[in-house]
Amino acid sequence: MANKPNYGIDAPNVIRNFFIAGALFLIVALAFPRVTIAHIEFVLSPGFLWPALWFVFFGALMLLYSLVGKFRHRDRILAKVAWTGAESVLDVGTGRGLLLIGAAKRLTTGHATGIDIWNAEDLSGNGPEALKANIALEDVGEKTTIKSEDARQMSFADGSIDVVLSNVCLHNIYDRPGRTKACREIVRVLKPGGVAVISDYKLMKEYAAEFASAGLKVEMCPLDWTGTWPPLRILVARKPL
Ligand SMILES: C[S@@+](CC[C@H](N)C(=O)[O-])C[C@H]1O[C@@H](n2cnc3c(N)ncnc32)[C@H](O)[C@@H]1O
Repeated sequence: MANKPNYGIDAPNVIRNFFIAGALFLIVALAFPRVTIAHIEFVLSPGFLWPALWFVFFGALMLLYSLVGKFRHRDRILAKVAWTGAESVLDVGTGRGLLLIGAAKRLTTGHATGIDIWNAEDLSGNGPEALKANIALEDVGEKTTIKSEDARQMSFADGSIDVVLSNVCLHNIYDRPGRTKACREIVRVLKPGGVAVISDYKLMKEYAAEFASAGLKVEMCPLDWTGTWPPLRILVARKPL
């Protein structure tokens, strides 16, 4: 077992494809600056250097988020909750436990549960074993539970959770009815007076509208351009007492 927690690389295939595309444009630009096809000359350099730079730059920004930015982003999300330490917490799409473990460290008598369906393409090394290893290394085993469960159909009782957290999970549900179900599940399991803190890079207005239509008071925080890529937004939705 590794001796340091590993929270994985988000969207690893997307990052890999960005680097491959960047390398291909670069190779073509350098190896074939001019190509003649059917007596027509195509000038590929320096033109092809721009997409090469674009792909490598944005691939590197995404990688930087996974390696550095997401820890600051986690703290920003967790700072939206006025912790007492006694909360019941649910992390939806916990992956390798970024928010689950961060929340558990703020608990005394409370308990945090992470649910996931462990999509390999959403996070490198995704799976309950990787999460268990992180939980052991971070020493929060007593305060955490892992469940293999879909955000669209949760097993938790109505009004049983004080704090629902979720980071870059809900957009991975590709159909709107599915995302609506997930938002309604979050509302259902929240206790009156509870809070949901949701972060994603797109569809945030859709989630906000779902929460607002269910009677929650929604506050949308500004996009974070410093350290998250794609830039992530946070919304805070409070269920009235
Ligand atoms: C990009 S990862 C983010 C993981 C973690 N929240 C973090 O910030 O490091 C998205 C996670 O959402 C999970 N996920 C996607 N669709 C889900 C669903 N319908 N129900 C539960 N989890 C889901 C994926 O398996 C993956 O672990």
